[in-house]
Amino acid sequence: MSKICVIGTGYVGLVTGTCFADLGNDVVCLDRDEERINQLNQSKMPFYEPGMEQLINQNAKASRLSFTTDYKKALKDVDFAFIAVGTPSGADGEADLQYVRSAAEEIADNVDSPIIVVNKSTVPVGTGDWVADVIRKRRNGKALEFNVVSNPEFLREGSAISDFMNPDRVVLGSTNKEAAENVATLYSQFRCPVLITDLRTAEMIKYASNAFLATRISFINEIANMCDELDADVSQVALGMGYDKRIGHAFLDAGLGWGGSCFPKDVKALAHMAVIHGTHPQLLQAVMEINRNQRRQVLVKLRKALGNLDEKTIGVLGLSFKPNTDDIRDAPALEVIHLLQNEGANIKAYDPQAMENAAKENLRIQLCKNPYQVAENADALVLTTEWNEFKQIDFEKIHSLMNQPIIMDGRNLWDAEALREIGFKYIGVGRGNHPDNE
Ligand SMILES: NC(=O)c1ccc[n+]([C@@H]2O[C@H](COP(=O)([O-])OP(=O)(O)OC[C@H]3O[C@@H](n4cnc5c(N)ncnc54)[C@H](O)[C@@H]3O)[C@@H](O)[C@H]2O)c1
Repeated sequence: MSKICVIGTGYVGLVTGTCFADLGNDVVCLDRDEERINQLNQSKMPFYEPGMEQLINQNAKASRLSFTTDYKKALKDVDFAFIAVGTPSGADGEADLQYVRSAAEEIADNVDSPIIVVNKSTVPVGTGDWVADVIRKRRNGKALEFNVVSNPEFLREGSAISDFMNPDRVVLGSTNKEAAENVATLYSQFRCPVLITDLRTAEMIKYASNAFLATRISFINEIANMCDELDADVSQVALGMGYDKRIGHAFLDAGLGWGGSCFPKDVKALAHMAVIHGTHPQLLQAVMEINRNQRRQVLVKLRKALGNLDEKTIGVLGLSFKPNTDDIRDAPALEVIHLLQNEGANIKAYDPQAMENAAKENLRIQLCKNPYQVAENADALVLTTEWNEFKQIDFEKIHSLMNQPIIMDGRNLWDAEALREIGFKYIGVGRGNHPDNE
C-alpha cells in the first residue's frame, strides 16, 4: 500500500485517485476548486462518468479515499504526488502550463520528506525537467529528496474506469530509473506491458499517440468526402480496410471529426512544439485543416437541401463531444451550431447528459427535453453525437413532427434506406452520391 496525493480532480485526477484507492492505496485527492471538493465530500459527482459515483462512495466509505483543498494535509508523508491538472491551449496553440507550475510550487512549499512527483497531465516534451527546476528554485536551497516521473494517461472519457484498470500499456519516463520502477509498483496488478523510458520520450509518446488517432479520423474523413463524390460507401470502405491486421478497425469512423478536451489542444500543442523547434509539421497541419472542414460539410449539405438556412429551424441531437460523457469542451456539435447560427438558423438541441453544461454556456439555443421535442417543426435534424439513446428513436413519430423531413446523419449511425422508406431525405457522411445529397 502506498500513500498517494492526486492534484486536480478533473476527469483524469478523479479517476486516477479513485482507482488507486480501489487498488488498496491510501489516496487524498486535492483540488483548488472549493466547490468541487465540497461536492465530492457530499458524494456529489462533478461530472458524468459511468461507474464513478459508486466507486468513489465505496472507497471513501472504506477510508481509502478523501478530498481536500488543503495542500499541507494532502501532501503529508505521501510517497507519490500525481499532477493531473489541466493543460489547456494557450493563445498560440501552445500548452498553457500555469496550472502545472502552481501544482509544482505547492509541492515545493508543502513537502519535507522524500517524494516522487508523477506527471499525469499531458505536457510538452521537456516539461518534466522544467517541473524539477520549478521545485528546486522554489525550495531556494532548502533540501528535498525528489524525482520526477512522467506517466501519461491514455484513458477515454466515457470508459475511464475500465480504461484505467485495463490499460493497453503503462508508460513511465524518468531520468531516474529506480523512481520509474517505484511508480511501476502501483500498476503491478495490471497485466500489460510497462514501458520505462527517459522523461522526454514518455512525454512524446502521449502526444504522438493522440496525434496519430486524430490523423486516422481525418484520413477517413478525407476518404469519406471522396466517397460522396465518387458514389462509394465509406462505412464499407472502413470495414474493408479494418480487416487488414496492419490497419485495424479503431478510429476509422467517418463523421464530423474529432473534438473534446484532448485531441484539439494536443494536436495543436504538438504542431506548436514542432514549429518552435524548427521542424515543419505538415501532416499535423493537414490533419487539423481536414477536421475544421469536416464541420463545414454540414453547412454545405444542408444549404443544398434547404436552399438557404436563414430563419430555418435546425434540430441538433447530441452536444457532448462523444457519447457517455457530459464534456462539451471543443465538441463538434458546438462548432456546427455556431456555423448554422452564422447563416441565420435557429437551433433546438437535446443531449442525454450534457444539458447542464450546455445551459452554462451562452449558446443561444433552445434546449429540449427529448429528441421528439427537438424534431417539432424542425426543417432538418442533425445528428452530432452517436448516443445509444438515438439508435432506437421512433422515426415515424419524428417524421410526423418535422416541418421538412430532412436528416443529416453526422455520425452515420442510422440505416439510410430504412429512413428513406419512411420518407426522409437522408444525408450521411461519405455514403455515396445519392440524389438526397443533391
Ligand atoms: N480528459 C481526458 O480524457 C484526458 C485523458 C488523458 C489525458 N488528459 C490530460 O490530463 C490533464 C487533466 O485533464 P482533465 O480533463 O482531467 O482536466 P480538467 O480540466 O477536467 O480538471 C483539471 C482540474 O485541476 C484543477 N486544478 C488546476 N490547477 C490546480 C492546482 N494548482 N492545484 C489543484 N488543482 C488544480 C482544476 O480545478 C480542475 O478541477 C490534461 O493535461 C489532459 O490533457 C485528459
